[in-house]
Amino acid sequence: MCGNGHRFDAARQGYLNLGTTRMPAGDDAAMVARRLEVAEAGVYAPLTDHLVEVARDHLAPAAGEQRLIVDVGAGPGVHLARILEALGDHHGIAVDASRYAARRAARAHPAITAIVADVWAGLPIADDAVDLLLDVFAPRNGAEFARILAPTGVLVLVTPRPGHLGELTRALGLLGVDPEKTRRVDDELADRFTRREGRPLTWEMSLDRSVAMAVATMGPSAHHLDPRALTTGLQRLEWPQTVTGDVEVAVYTPRTTEET
Ligand SMILES: C[S@@+](CC[C@H](N)C(=O)[O-])C[C@H]1O[C@@H](n2cnc3c(N)ncnc32)[C@H](O)[C@@H]1O
Repeated sequence: MCGNGHRFDAARQGYLNLGTTRMPAGDDAAMVARRLEVAEAGVYAPLTDHLVEVARDHLAPAAGEQRLIVDVGAGPGVHLARILEALGDHHGIAVDASRYAARRAARAHPAITAIVADVWAGLPIADDAVDLLLDVFAPRNGAEFARILAPTGVLVLVTPRPGHLGELTRALGLLGVDPEKTRRVDDELADRFTRREGRPLTWEMSLDRSVAMAVATMGPSAHHLDPRALTTGLQRLEWPQTVTGDVEVAVYTPRTTEET
């Protein structure tokens, strides 16, 4: 461990631990397992498919060259793995504060290097190195994102919109989405990034009870929900239950000196 509290530890499970002693824990083992269960049920497949197309569009000019794709707060690495699978010979780095997530991401695709690191403490990635930076429902550090992104690179950001999981939010008392979220995120990034595209993506999920339970408890609501209220709420719903996916997918590029 160095004087700043950094550890350097290549875990047997295939990820690199570059976390500090003071870093946030990130998702626990149970939350990561539920997120994987939800991904394997195909619940977020329309979003992953959309991200593959966005990545394809932005990496197309570099056809034939190996590019670096970084997913911050990657969780079990499902979106990144699908992008690498679809687009071929690129390299991926999955960064997450959770070692449980990093362990899963390390196994998600052979071209993924998984790193445990805190996005707020600085990312262990060189300046201007990244061609495509993904952040899906994860914390954003605009200064670090601007530092690691190549001048020709793009940042693809996915944030929930107020309708996201609305049926479950109402029935089970999950944490709602701030209606001002998209505007707040834009404001946070405005100094360093120009917003190029932003569009809502909505889809319908047909959930059975066990997957709905996993959806409800894989995110921050896991820490707030009363298990009895959750069970009662789930009993009141009809199965399978149709639940709305509703997110904003935005593409940003680093500001050039003329734009600043
Ligand atoms: C809502 S999950 C999204 C996971 C993944 N992007 C997905 O869409 O399936 C947010 C992720 O961010 C990670 N995270 C939370 N705080 C973090 C931090 N300070 N630095 C890096 N990752 C963090 C969590 O451990 C979790 O895996």
